[in-house]
Amino acid sequence: MKYFLADDSGSFREKVVILDFGGQYSMLIARRIRESGVYCELLPFDTSWNKIIELNPAGIILSGSPASVYSEDAPRCDPAVYSGGIPILGICYGMQLLSLELGGEVKRGTRPEFGRTSFNVVEKKPLFTDDLFLDQANNCGWMSHQDEVLKPPPNFTVLARTENNTMAAIGDNNRKIYGVQFHPEVFHTPGGNNVLKNFLFSVCECSQTWTPRSFIDNAVEIIRHTLGEDDKVVCALSGGVDSSVVAFLLDKAVGERAVYIFVDHGFLRLGEAEQVAKLYRERLKGQFIHLDARQQFLEKLAGVLDPEEKRMIIGAEFIKVFKDQALSMGDITYLAQGTIYPDVIESGSVSGAAVIKSHHNVGGLPEELGFDLIEPLRELFKDEVRLVGAELGLPDTILKRQPFPGPGLAVRIIGDITEKKLILLKKADAIFREEIIKSDLADTLWQYFAVYTGIDVVGVKGDDRHYGPVIALRAVHSEDAMTADWARLPHNLLEKVSARITGEIEEAARVVYDITSKPPGTIEWE
Ligand code: XMP
Repeated sequence: MKYFLADDSGSFREKVVILDFGGQYSMLIARRIRESGVYCELLPFDTSWNKIIELNPAGIILSGSPASVYSEDAPRCDPAVYSGGIPILGICYGMQLLSLELGGEVKRGTRPEFGRTSFNVVEKKPLFTDDLFLDQANNCGWMSHQDEVLKPPPNFTVLARTENNTMAAIGDNNRKIYGVQFHPEVFHTPGGNNVLKNFLFSVCECSQTWTPRSFIDNAVEIIRHTLGEDDKVVCALSGGVDSSVVAFLLDKAVGERAVYIFVDHGFLRLGEAEQVAKLYRERLKGQFIHLDARQQFLEKLAGVLDPEEKRMIIGAEFIKVFKDQALSMGDITYLAQGTIYPDVIESGSVSGAAVIKSHHNVGGLPEELGFDLIEPLRELFKDEVRLVGAELGLPDTILKRQPFPGPGLAVRIIGDITEKKLILLKKADAIFREEIIKSDLADTLWQYFAVYTGIDVVGVKGDDRHYGPVIALRAVHSEDAMTADWARLPHNLLEKVSARITGEIEEAARVVYDITSKPPGTIEWE
């Protein structure tokens, strides 16, 4: 099994390395740097100097950490980092660590600072040169530390001090090593982006080469190079943004030599399978195979109540359907997958990343299939995937699609799944989506959907008693699905949706709105 990613360009692409000491904002630092147009990679704090230098970075950032530099197992980087001649910016723990390692003094926390803290700039160059810092209101940073640098290392000067007289920023212009005690990457540090950009552009002399266009050019070249003159590639499409972007990249790179398989398990939303199939068929030059496996999935799931069992059955069936088709095509050597950067980090290849996904996505295909893998999005954050998709001309219906679980509506029908329940849920969900979109609220919500609760209750329809299912509506705000807040939707909107669902769907007896946040709830009901 060989892996090919888009970034096989080695030292050619200008990049910054972030050594991740396990700080809660490490990923955010990476996103800010990329938003500035500079490519960066998060590496474990203990990455060897040899490995770092192989990447030929223009700068190195030392992240924050929950540890104290005085804790027994305090994470440390390879000492060669400090003498390698590459500019360094230490953030919070990173500043304390470099201070200690280079001969300064760090005091164990007696005066912790948390939250927004004002500072006075002592020396503008190179981090605080922008006009914005002339306004004292902007001279503050988000702090979250116990230890503090008491004395900077020899040859360092103080660039900024807090009102508590702690060191907010230090630097050695000769060696181009800097430290900031605050977190420039967080929203609550008003000049934070400027500090990062000054480091990137004035100190490291980076240029803004990381753009969706440059990514696409590079990825296309790598795909062409990998596939050579004759090899064929297969790609599983789900209708989601990641697999669609992979497909459009393949299309650009090798056109007709790509084959696309869309396994329709029947659990997409109303009209969605037809909509995405139409798009793929019209826009992709390679063969597009639409496998209608709806009955097959329903049969496999008949009588299954347990959500995890549902997930496993759907995942296994998906692989089986895909595999049978792909292997029957004979001459395919490569499988293209939409793995993205957070998946790479979450699967533990970077230390300090605490979040492990519990959901194995439908569409994640096992290595045993025997194809070599191409993962062109392996270095992209989700928002970068969307930017690349937009540059490739994907429509908003795909790019702005709300997150949707791989097993789809199957985990939104509580209890056993039948075709009847599925049809009813699709209608209710379509009504809710339509009204949210009409009210211009779609872009403000993370996810919004209907749930078939599996409870039948009594109601009155016409002059008769009527027994029928309860439909629940769920709409949440979230940043990353790890936590979520239930959305305070306008009452008149809820009223309209409720009236339409009970009016237009004969069986529906009642509509309820879910007011549980996460935690303690989860976003999905199963
Ligand atoms: P929960 O329900 O755990 O969901 O709060 C968090 C996010 O994950 C999505 N989700 C899934 N995605 N396969 C997926 O690909 C799944 O089995 C699955 N279950 C939940 C959910 O929609 C939300 O965005």
